[in-house]
Amino acid sequence: MDRIRITGGRRLNGRIPISGAKNAALPLLIAGLLTRDTLTLSNVPDLADVRLLSRILGNHGVDITIAGKRAGQKAGAGQTLRIDAAEIVDTTAPYELVSKMRASFWVLGPLLARCGAARVSLPGGCAIGTRPVDLFLNGMKALGAEVEIDAGYVIASAKGGLKGANISFPKVSVGATHTLMMAATLAEGQTRLINAACEPEVTDVAECLNKMGAKISGIGTPELIIDGVEALHGARHTVLPDRIETGTYAMAVAAAGGEVTLTGTRASLLDSVIEVLQRAGVTVEPTNDGMRVSRNGAALKPVKVSTAPYPKFPTDCQAQLMALMTLAEGDSQIQETIFENRFMHVQELARLGAGITLDGDTATVHGGRPLTGAQVMATDLRASVSLVIAGLAAEGDTIINRVYHLDRGFENLESKLSACGADIERLSS
Ligand code: EPZ
Repeated sequence: MDRIRITGGRRLNGRIPISGAKNAALPLLIAGLLTRDTLTLSNVPDLADVRLLSRILGNHGVDITIAGKRAGQKAGAGQTLRIDAAEIVDTTAPYELVSKMRASFWVLGPLLARCGAARVSLPGGCAIGTRPVDLFLNGMKALGAEVEIDAGYVIASAKGGLKGANISFPKVSVGATHTLMMAATLAEGQTRLINAACEPEVTDVAECLNKMGAKISGIGTPELIIDGVEALHGARHTVLPDRIETGTYAMAVAAAGGEVTLTGTRASLLDSVIEVLQRAGVTVEPTNDGMRVSRNGAALKPVKVSTAPYPKFPTDCQAQLMALMTLAEGDSQIQETIFENRFMHVQELARLGAGITLDGDTATVHGGRPLTGAQVMATDLRASVSLVIAGLAAEGDTIINRVYHLDRGFENLESKLSACGADIERLSS
């Protein structure tokens, strides 16, 4: 398995292009199931998760072609995918594929809406928690589907088609919002999703669905109103920039020191992350194509942060912030309110010398202790990149094992960092 070696202590200077958002590209690919026409997506990041989902969609009979880079296309401008779901040949999403990536469970909505039937493996838990799907199933039932669980599969049917309904989520769920929003576009009548997720990726998918002929209003608010239509048609859509990748590299610069301009992104996608970084003493200046991040000698100040649904501090940046706060002068408190087990990076950061104590859902980071390089293990996507951030600041060599976790969500990470001066390389074993 590939490993990454980082020799810490190098400042970062230069530019990093931000890729298209993984967490928008995945539901956008799935939205392609809703129409017989071609959905063309540009700025799609070249990630393991995107390739895996393309394979899963191929299982349903969807043809996905990657259009070559056109002359003059900006370097790092992602890839263009054409999704053709003219015929859906199989409405089963098998365990061996769904268990590899939770988001593939979301095909449940479009398959049910388009074909009136779906047999989708339960996603199972993962490193960060049990990840139940009750909100999805209750929502499908509200839309008139018959839903049962048999041998680890969700078997859903809606012979006469789905019927619009009011669905109020007891807690905010990004996946359930995506899935039910997509299903509702082809339901008969109006659907209201109350307490819907407002993440920018949900907004991006809603805007794409409207380009495909859906009638969604309230976009960007906790109440989405979807008036069902007979059918959706093809469209062209550009995936929005990845706010989590943007926040991740901002924290990498803050940890290593230096000045880096993040391009192809928007500061407005991550106000809560920028606010925390500025409180910690990092300089962050929005630019017309992203943001400039710098820390030249200023000490890092400890912060107190709780993760929460958008627009509050994203759980997907929690591990990265924890790595940064190991360098702050004083104790920081980081509370994880979304997932019940998203502190797997703590013991790995401790191997680098970090002092972190856990009390239930809150981690206290005793900053100011010097970090020294060591062998560490990546456990999930965001935990693995927190080890990269710590490795950039640690004295000596850090070897990160199981970097396949990184490849799921960070495109060309080593080349983006080494282009700014980091001493980082992939060790293929
Ligand atoms: C999405 O996961 C993201 N994944 C996650 O990013 C992100 O951490 C999460 O939203 C929260 O922002 C993608 O977009 C592909 P949820 P999702 O449903 O939709 C509970 C990454 O690193 N819940 O919003 O699976 C759930 O257990 C990944 O890119 C139920 O109880 O998350 C959790 O505690 C990690 N019942 C909370 O809701 C349900 O039916 C929020 O989960 C569904 C969810």
